[in-house]
Amino acid sequence: MYNSKIAAFEKYVPDNIVTNDDLSKVVDTSDEWISTRTGIKQRRISKCENTAELCFNSAKRLLDKTGLSPLDIDMIITATITSDYMTPSVACIVQGRLGAENAVCFDLSAACSGFVYALSTADKFIKSGACRNVIVIGGETLSKILDWNDRATCVLFGDGAGSALVTLSDEKMILAEDLHSDGVKFESLSAGYVPVKNPFYNEKFDENSFYMQMNGREIFNFAVKKVPESILAVSGKVNVSLSEVKYIVPHQANSRIVESIAKKLKISMDKFYLNLDKFGNTSAASIPIALCEMEEKGLIKKDDKIIITGFGGGLTWGSMLFKM
Ligand code: UT7
Repeated sequence: MYNSKIAAFEKYVPDNIVTNDDLSKVVDTSDEWISTRTGIKQRRISKCENTAELCFNSAKRLLDKTGLSPLDIDMIITATITSDYMTPSVACIVQGRLGAENAVCFDLSAACSGFVYALSTADKFIKSGACRNVIVIGGETLSKILDWNDRATCVLFGDGAGSALVTLSDEKMILAEDLHSDGVKFESLSAGYVPVKNPFYNEKFDENSFYMQMNGREIFNFAVKKVPESILAVSGKVNVSLSEVKYIVPHQANSRIVESIAKKLKISMDKFYLNLDKFGNTSAASIPIALCEMEEKGLIKKDDKIIITGFGGGLTWGSMLFKM
């Protein structure tokens, strides 16, 4: 049996910073409403880079940091809901630009849980002996699927990409995972509807269904119920108490969601790493961007135990407990 470990993180975000005050010139909102309801102060909004470009830059930085050759990479998985094309995948575009010609490449669609799902997938390919080095990327250009007239959604999201190198390891470092889906509630969060249109049929559809549609309250309540259960599930599977976990890195959607989760679990907010004030909700990119920032700040040390936990469209949710 082979084991895997997460060896390094990287990130790449667009330069363009959009503050809450900037948004109040676009829609009827205020810094006060956005800050107090979500914790978000600013986000990055792409001016020209699409998702593959953000993901390529993040993956290139990862190779530069780790010193691996592109030819050492066996697989690239991109978690995204905002790919440049329906085909090719973002992962294939990244592969071509990196020159990672030995890599098998595909995208994975699990919305804001995408990075956790993709890490789990990478872990399985390494455990089976099929791969040694996998690049896992979470990358989004959510700004292109937002209705910029809808203040209930457009203030929440941002663009960016984060990546992780998952490699073969002597020791078991990915300790436990807990993944779930609930398709019955798919309409609570949707985007990018493509109607059936051909010479034989022309589907009637809501023009707005291309844009992000979200029942915010429902997603809020779903996250506050399911995420604590999932955190307890991963820690319980390997008998690791939450006091032994250095950080919990949640999907960065809303600081009030995280406060409710902390309260339910009776643990301090200090255990949760949050950077949504700077980047907003970047869906699949939010967890790897946070992990990279933590690594840059020297917050993550060898042998630290970390839980990541994602939740969002699908509905999907899931957590992973790993050791650095
Ligand atoms: O990553 C995917 C997962 N997504 C999430 O985790 C999102 C989860 N949901 C949330 O974070 C929250 O539900 C929101 C931040 C989206 C909304 O917060 P809320 O406390 O649930 O507010 P609400 O939707 O109940 O709206 C309250 C009021 C409404 O006005 P009335 O009807 O009370 O007069 C809204 O029209 O706030 C109004 N409102 C705004 N006001 C100023 C909604 N958006 C805005 C805005 N600026 N941007």
